[in-house]
Amino acid sequence: MRRYLVSLLLLLLVTKAALAQLAVQAPQPTVQVPRGQPAVLPCTYTLGSGDSLREVKWYERSVGGDRQPVLFYFSDPQPQETAIGGYAGRASLVTADGSKASLRLNDTRLSDNGQFECLVGAMVAGVPQEVTVNIDLTVLVAPHAPKITGDYNEATGHLNLTCTALHGHPAANLTWYRDGVAVPAGRSDVSTDQQGFQDARVSVNFTVTANSGSAGMVTYRCDASHPALTTVMQASGKLGRPIVTNITTMPANIDSLMQYDDVTLTCASEGGLVLEPTYRWTRVGGSLPDGAVADGKQLKIVFASSKDSGTYTCTASNALGSTDAKTTLQFKERPLIREPQTQEESGLSPELTLLVVLAVFAALGAFGGAAYYIRRRREAQDEEAPPTTEGPKEVVTPSVTPNAPAAPMAQGRPLESSKTEDKGRPLPSNRGVAPPGVKEKGYDNPVSNADEFNPQY
Ligand SMILES: *[C@@H]1O[C@H](CO)[C@@H](O)[C@H](O)[C@H]1NC(C)=O
Ligand SMILES: *[C@@H]1O[C@H](CO)[C@@H](O)[C@H](O)[C@H]1NC(C)=O
Ligand SMILES: *[C@@H]1O[C@H](CO)[C@@H](O)[C@H](O)[C@H]1NC(C)=O
Ligand SMILES: *[C@@H]1O[C@H](CO)[C@@H](O)[C@H](O)[C@H]1NC(C)=O
Ligand SMILES: *[C@@H]1O[C@H](CO)[C@@H](O)[C@H](O)[C@H]1NC(C)=O
Repeated sequence: MRRYLVSLLLLLLVTKAALAQLAVQAPQPTVQVPRGQPAVLPCTYTLGSGDSLREVKWYERSVGGDRQPVLFYFSDPQPQETAIGGYAGRASLVTADGSKASLRLNDTRLSDNGQFECLVGAMVAGVPQEVTVNIDLTVLVAPHAPKITGDYNEATGHLNLTCTALHGHPAANLTWYRDGVAVPAGRSDVSTDQQGFQDARVSVNFTVTANSGSAGMVTYRCDASHPALTTVMQASGKLGRPIVTNITTMPANIDSLMQYDDVTLTCASEGGLVLEPTYRWTRVGGSLPDGAVADGKQLKIVFASSKDSGTYTCTASNALGSTDAKTTLQFKERPLIREPQTQEESGLSPELTLLVVLAVFAALGAFGGAAYYIRRRREAQDEEAPPTTEGPKEVVTPSVTPNAPAAPMAQGRPLESSKTEDKGRPLPSNRGVAPPGVKEKGYDNPVSNADEFNPQY
């Protein structure tokens, strides 16, 4: 009987100790907060009548780090709250909601990300007790907008599209869609930088053939979702043959192109996600002119000739096919420079005048030499043989008519030297043809004048 009473007493003591257990709860074990916003980490406790709170201590254990004190509260002798270190001025206990132990953290930073400990100490039935609960804080940082990149292996036709969303916390959740239908990801990967930001990458890979393009453009889209975003961020691109949209020209207005102009054509295309188009320039009904240089999407025609007029085609192609566009260029002939009427009116510089005079002398020399030679030949023929039917050489004989203004030009030594220089030249077959050296100078006038000169030889 005594033994029974002792047992009952022990049981009562144990039960009383069990009932006097300090209860501390974390009603929300994980908390997410956008960076910069205040976070409230709820921590509640219940005490029996007669029990009393002694202290509340908050610690933080950052990912892979040590336990750091955040805030200490002591009720005795005076209620006193102290935020510690980097939490000074940011951390405080929330006392308004009656829970008394919750932590409010202002101006949250990525470094606040981690596990927080709420420690409550109380006197329970005269015995000091401590209970700790953990709360995970996730500081949210929206990632940068997603971007699509890709590798294309021309040999195998293997295309690997990668969607990347950088600098988020936590990493963005990336999903691929093909024409609006979710595509199972081939491979996904998250990397974390030193500051704790996370880069998400998800790739899909497939094989493309020219046939894949015949079905038309396929749209690939990558959605990036993230708890810090209210809407999904998207990146998308079309996969298909490139479509040539236009050919732009420099100068922009090609209606008044003239020979000797420089023109640059630039081909623009859209579509062809990842599969970069290559450009080819051709000319309808012929080859590119000598002065044309095709460099990727550009075609440069330098110092155009009127023969460069025509229709030019830009073809953009990739592994899935090609399209082209055409543009027509018309190079008008430039009008000839007006002929000066006389030397005095021409306003030529002394150097040019000298050149012209020399050119005239050269022409006269050639002409005179030829005439002299022919005359001597005919004289010889007259002496040696009876006259025969004159061939075309007769036409070459200059008409010897005195010409007053030209006379002063024809006198002097240069005529003689020109004559000897031109000895080896074949006979001119046509009076109108000027010596090549003169023609190249571009002075047509003196040459025609020379024809009218009356060489004195
Ligand atoms: C946190 O911000 C709130 C609202 O601005 C302010 O009332 C409170 O005093 C701040 N806490 C600390 C510790 O500065
Ligand atoms: C696609 O390319 C990315 C980046 O180069 C690479 O990390 C990934 O492994 C590739 N995916 C596949 C499925 O080949
Ligand atoms: C990622 O997004 C997809 C599609 O919205 C969704 O089904 C999936 O549950 C998300 N995953 C995570 C970890 O949020
Ligand atoms: C992705 O690429 C790997 C090799 O890089 C290949 O083994 C795999 O079959 C490809 N997946 C698809 C769907 O093409
Ligand atoms: C030509 O295409 C480019 C790029 O697609 C565009 O910026 C430009 O406005 C277009 N020009 C014309 C005249 O359509």
